[in-house]
Amino acid sequence: MNWSKIIVFFIFFSHINTLFSQKNDIIPTPTEQTINNGFMEIENSPEIITESNFNSAATLFKNAIKKLDLNSKKTTKNRINFSLNEKLNEEEYILKINTNQIIIEASTETGAIFGFQSLYQLMNLNLKNGVVKLQNQVIKDSPRFKYRGMHLDVGRHMYPVAFIKKYIDGLAMLKFNNFHWHLTEDQGWRIEIEKYPELNNIGSYRDSTLIGHYTDKPWQFDKTRYGGFYTKKEIKEVVRYAEKRGINVIPEIEMPGHSQAAVSSYPEFGCTGEQVGVAPLWGVFKEIYCSKNETFDFLEEIIDEVVELFPGKYIHIGGDEAPKTNWKACGNCQNVINREELKDEHELQSYFITRMEKYINSKGKQIIGWDEILEGGLAPNATVMSWRGVSGGIEAAKMNHEVIMTPNATCYLDHYQAKDTSKEPLAIGGYTPIEEIYNYEPIPDELDESLHKYIIGAQGNVWTEYMKTSDHVEYMVFPRIFALSEVVWAENRPSYNDFEKKVIGMYPILDKMDINYSKHLERLEE
Ligand code: ACM
Ligand code: ZN
Repeated sequence: MNWSKIIVFFIFFSHINTLFSQKNDIIPTPTEQTINNGFMEIENSPEIITESNFNSAATLFKNAIKKLDLNSKKTTKNRINFSLNEKLNEEEYILKINTNQIIIEASTETGAIFGFQSLYQLMNLNLKNGVVKLQNQVIKDSPRFKYRGMHLDVGRHMYPVAFIKKYIDGLAMLKFNNFHWHLTEDQGWRIEIEKYPELNNIGSYRDSTLIGHYTDKPWQFDKTRYGGFYTKKEIKEVVRYAEKRGINVIPEIEMPGHSQAAVSSYPEFGCTGEQVGVAPLWGVFKEIYCSKNETFDFLEEIIDEVVELFPGKYIHIGGDEAPKTNWKACGNCQNVINREELKDEHELQSYFITRMEKYINSKGKQIIGWDEILEGGLAPNATVMSWRGVSGGIEAAKMNHEVIMTPNATCYLDHYQAKDTSKEPLAIGGYTPIEEIYNYEPIPDELDESLHKYIIGAQGNVWTEYMKTSDHVEYMVFPRIFALSEVVWAENRPSYNDFEKKVIGMYPILDKMDINYSKHLERLEE
């Protein structure tokens, strides 16, 4: 053998590991991933060490192993160690895979859970014939944004607790840390409130629902009673379930608008006192809360019960789409405008939100509101969710308020994801293909660098007027949620081509989770 052949051989053997190294296409893309020589084969019941009391992460791992249904013949014992590393940030983790040991280092349980989620993807991506063989590697990872949210509207249609948990599983796998649970709407009140039982007896049910699309005229209704609500016991169960997966649950209790179901339960808290029904139709309605003191007492007592159920720091109070028609004609509301020396009904809305904020702050909680809460003056401590584009977010950041970006053009997952809508399930409209979400940058170009810190993250919204079933919700959310997870987590997103390959690689995991996903991966037009 001559020297040149020896050199070729040497180069071949020194790279053989790389040549045969597995794909490790985690979504969202980790900050740093170093592939090392060698593999680890996971056996049926590896020893689990939790030096750190990261018990939720360890339990998730144990359950994931069971579901893999391994038939490894491996006899040498391997182990996983959940280990405390106080040098890491709250959501940061290091995942080390060596031939006989996996180590997940974190400074908090949340970090350890995110480390587990990366391992979960790796294990499932590398499962073949009952054997999981993982490439040795080190992943160092932490999120770009501290708020990574997904929303679900259960007012228009509601879904079983089992589905809410499944939805949370999907969020958790992609390291989202906030589940925004939109619990009250014109078409249904979905949270049990003991002090005001009519909210559930009356407000949780509508007599009829629009058939087809809002624009199909004349409107037709199914004349079928629809509804229900989540009991306190169920809500606690969901909150606990989410917490064990690193997810905070944010309840949304809408005010002053989108309140027709509440006003139908207690007409005395509307302006006219007239009995209205729970809305059978989608849209924006004038039956909003009256600004008299009695309404504040009512809402404060509701908040008292809500804060008992949700340990997180945020209560979302809505604030969007509140027509001022009734306020203009209402003696009580006009009296408040005079008494408080307000300029108009927009300032009355600001008074309403600020007064509720003060109460919610007194309970140790912060409010989030949709960007309409800027109108008439922003409540002093509010976080703004910018949905009518990004200008509300920019305005709030300039006022040194925290902002969550959720502009409807890119972050509304109720939009169509395919241009040819003829084969798609009925949707509200719009066109938001996965590539558009993938390209989204939450920090607006025009925002001065000194204000970037106020953009704390972004969120995907799932309004469910046209999603009667949980299967349909899944279809709208997956795989577009993968793109959003990259936007909110990854410091460096790969090219869209590479991302698309990773998404396709995830299909077997979605199949295993029994998620009904869309296979549309539409490119934006050149
Ligand atoms: C919204 O979409 N009305 C916040
Ligand atoms: Zn009024």
